[in-house]
Amino acid sequence: MKNLIVILMGGLSNERTISFLTGKACSNALKKKKFKVKELDATGNFVDKLKKLKPKLVFNALHGKYGEDGFIQSILESLKIPYTHSGVLSSYLSMDKELSRIIFKKKKIKVPKYFLVKKDYEGNLIKKIKSKKIKFPIVVKPVNEGSSLGVYICKNKKQFQLKYNKLKREYDKILVEEYIPGKEIQVAVMGDKALGAIELIPKREFYDYTAKYSSKAMTKHIMPASISKKKYKEALFLGKKAHKLLGCKGVTRSDFRFFKNKFYLLEINTQPGMTKLSLVPEIANYCGIKFEDLVFWMVKDASINR
Ligand SMILES: Nc1ncnc2c1ncn2[C@@H]1O[C@H](COP(=O)(O)OP(=O)(O)O)[C@@H](O)[C@H]1O
Ligand SMILES: [Mg+2]
Repeated sequence: MKNLIVILMGGLSNERTISFLTGKACSNALKKKKFKVKELDATGNFVDKLKKLKPKLVFNALHGKYGEDGFIQSILESLKIPYTHSGVLSSYLSMDKELSRIIFKKKKIKVPKYFLVKKDYEGNLIKKIKSKKIKFPIVVKPVNEGSSLGVYICKNKKQFQLKYNKLKREYDKILVEEYIPGKEIQVAVMGDKALGAIELIPKREFYDYTAKYSSKAMTKHIMPASISKKKYKEALFLGKKAHKLLGCKGVTRSDFRFFKNKFYLLEINTQPGMTKLSLVPEIANYCGIKFEDLVFWMVKDASINR
């Protein structure tokens, strides 16, 4: 159909539910802007459906596996359908918290001390933690998940063994890393501009799935983040640097911990949430960019060869 925008949402990842929220919100925004839109669940024979629909472009509202890791991007490249957000390689690198960190470290962006464990590892992990000089509490997480799914803060060896064994059943690669206390700061980048930095103060133990998506969890959002002007500028600089280093496109959000006046980059998100409680829209809004205009910009920015 001429001038049709297909919104890809849902999909096969553990963030399927959140993707529907992102997709619906963006769909409504595009309708307000008078676009012809069709929402399409990225499961089953959706590629055939996509081919039949012949959209002018795809708005990628997927999160997580197959949607945020270069898979869908490579399908869209081969179909020559312009799409939003980052391209194949930058999506893959960003989704992999280890590969992206190797690049961040090389270019002097601080990340927490960590190591990667493959699920068939048979050595003594407690010894390994000690040899890496990582102290409890320790964070364990899958290398390529999102929405805080599978992220655990372990206070002692027992908790660590329990959570690690749990993760091992579901994921092939697990990160073990030092816990960085301090503030939770996230930076939104739109194209070649860092928009702003927001601070999150969860009432829960950390910024977990519930703290992210349930208004009842009462996570405090402080926009702009309550840090000095100088540090605020540094956060924006780092967010933009991470975005450029991995060759990201469109909108990204970088998640930092801020401790003893230093920023530690946890990860960069190439498909940041666009739900009611999401941070990129909130940061954009603070900069005078309404939700509809943000989505409109993303659509105008869509292309192939990303
Ligand atoms: N090393 C860490 N130190 C302190 N908090 C952490 C650490 N790693 C993760 N967290 C907490 O867990 C949340 C999710 O972790 P993150 O690495 O961003 O994974 P996800 O891709 O699931 O968002 C962070 O926003 C933070 O609150
Ligand atoms: Mg995160």
